[in-house]
Amino acid sequence: MDKPFRGLTTEELMDLAIKMAGQTQFPADSRIYVPGKNIKKTLFGIDIGVAELHVGKQIGVDCVVAHHPDPSVLTFPDVLDLHVPLAVKNGVPENEARAAVDAMKERNAFVRHSANYDHAPSFARLLNMPFMNIHNPLDEIGRQRMQQAVDTHCSHGSTVADVVDALYTLPEFTQAPTSIEVRIGKLDNPAGKTVVVHGAGTNGGAALARLYYNHGVDTVIYIHISYGEFLKLKEEFPLGKNLIISGHIVSDAVGINPYIERLESMGIEVVRVSGL
Ligand SMILES: [Fe+2]
Ligand SMILES: [Fe+2]
Repeated sequence: MDKPFRGLTTEELMDLAIKMAGQTQFPADSRIYVPGKNIKKTLFGIDIGVAELHVGKQIGVDCVVAHHPDPSVLTFPDVLDLHVPLAVKNGVPENEARAAVDAMKERNAFVRHSANYDHAPSFARLLNMPFMNIHNPLDEIGRQRMQQAVDTHCSHGSTVADVVDALYTLPEFTQAPTSIEVRIGKLDNPAGKTVVVHGAGTNGGAALARLYYNHGVDTVIYIHISYGEFLKLKEEFPLGKNLIISGHIVSDAVGINPYIERLESMGIEVVRVSGL
């Protein structure tokens, strides 16, 4: 007779995501705030705070899982290092990528330094509610799915419109209330070399997109960009380069959905909230 399913621990939930992403390192932007075991039912959302933890308690889940890191994850800037190998793989010289990433890390360290380092986790402990966030491995799964969609459906001679259509082969994009936006360039531009720059903490802003453009990439796909960074790039690259913004929450879901489906196939109930 099969043994009854005892559920997973928070560590096993994290390890599964790391493995599915093809990674080996514990992600710098992910954390187990309150460990738990025998997890058979989870509340899973992109953003989780104190109210959501309380909802988890009310509906009787064994663990609350967030995608975005809590402000207490002081090691977050280190995950930005993952921009370096992604940029180098796509033709950016390592010293240039490193300089841009170091500046991003410094700015980010200031933000983390001012944040409350124990708000939501303190309430999770009070509620005795296992609580964790899984960020980078799930973004990496999303990056792989998006890049694969582009590589499968586009070739030499494809246009920006073809790239957008390729992304729309992923069902998440057709179902989302946001659209995929071409923020720089236009639909009938040649797409040229196209890179999904995602899965390294956050988007690379104007500084990293500029490096990709200067080193042979014609189309950069970010999942989001601030208006200020967009304006900087638009002024510099009025013609010939393209920036596609796929949409934040929907692109996060592209990476999270395969993981949730895996949990469900193992017999774990997942209550989806906050963009999922
Ligand atoms: Fe994400
Ligand atoms: Fe996100």
